Amino acid sequence: MYPGQRVLKLSNSGTSCPLIGLGTWAPNFGDERTTKAKTWIMTALKTGYRLLDTAYSYGTEKAVGEAIRESGINREEVYVITKLPPNHHGRVLESIQESLDNLGFKWLDMYLMHWPVAATYEGEEKENEPLHPEGAPKAVELPTFNETWAAMEEALRQSKCEAIGVSNFSIRNLEALLKTARVKPAMNQVEMHPYLQQNDLLEFCKSQGIAVVAYTPSGTNVVRNDPVIVELAGKYQVTPTQIILAWHLSRDVVVIPKSHDEGRQKENFNLPTLEDEDLKKIAALDRGQRICNKGDENGLVWGMSLESLGW
Ligand SMILES: NC(=O)c1ccc[n+]([C@@H]2O[C@H](COP(=O)([O-])OP(=O)(O)OC[C@H]3O[C@@H](n4cnc5c(N)ncnc54)[C@H](OP(=O)(O)O)[C@@H]3O)[C@@H](O)[C@H]2O)c1
Repeated sequence: MYPGQRVLKLSNSGTSCPLIGLGTWAPNFGDERTTKAKTWIMTALKTGYRLLDTAYSYGTEKAVGEAIRESGINREEVYVITKLPPNHHGRVLESIQESLDNLGFKWLDMYLMHWPVAATYEGEEKENEPLHPEGAPKAVELPTFNETWAAMEEALRQSKCEAIGVSNFSIRNLEALLKTARVKPAMNQVEMHPYLQQNDLLEFCKSQGIAVVAYTPSGTNVVRNDPVIVELAGKYQVTPTQIILAWHLSRDVVVIPKSHDEGRQKENFNLPTLEDEDLKKIAALDRGQRICNKGDENGLVWGMSLESLGW
């Protein structure tokens, strides 16, 4: 299905997903999310990437769909993930159709609940980005993620997607979801890198057949500049990012690094195999440090409390 790719079998959906993909979050100004994003998504496809991660709220669904069509690569050969935004929990079937329309697709390979908590935004949506002039969305209690998941199961039944999964779910929230789910999530996309290894969550997901996808997989310059990582890069004659991404693959974790640079896209797509003693050195770097999504001064992440996220 994905010739030349290392793939991970997704136990709960019976489908497979390439292990290395491209993240497509882009900033919300000018033509960053449209013309520019399409250009660098196309270079990634040319490099060989066959997994693209987008989300309704990234505003890059259109760019992903157009890049695939203009690349001439068959739709079936590119695995596309998109996500239900927290302010659409009460309208899943409409929202997935909007994502399909943005992408110009008939079906998705994977549809994720972006966050376990529903939220509303002050203000309007512009170019798919909910505007929240006061700085943050407001978390609401209903619908619960169990109710939202039931609507996602209906989207799966209607063949809008081949698989459904979640993002930013903790063990506690997964356990609560599994109590009512008729279809087990096929995937959980979470922040993961050497400073936030989430070993308990990874083990739990594996025990439930849930594939784990690492976002912010490089840990940005914070982890890239770690002396242990830099030393290993020297040993293998690769870059620090390649060391970090190779470590993820050793754990059967899918990675979705974002780069708009063709050279760095190539780097991230060509990874060494690390020796056991070096994997142990990286394992020792864990410090439970969130880099991308951490609580603000009020203990909130996108308006959601750390307690509600189970973090
Ligand atoms: N589910 C969620 O809630 C969630 C949250 C955050 C992110 N995500 C997804 O995960 C994707 C990746 O996450 P992320 O962007 O936070 O982190 P990331 O991919 O680990 O880091 C991206 C940053 O690293 C740079 N970079 C990439 N490759 C590099 C290399 N080989 N050497 C040096 N610098 C490099 C990029 O700059 P250049 O572009 O200049 O190369 C960019 O500044 C996102 O695009 C999105 O699809 C999901």
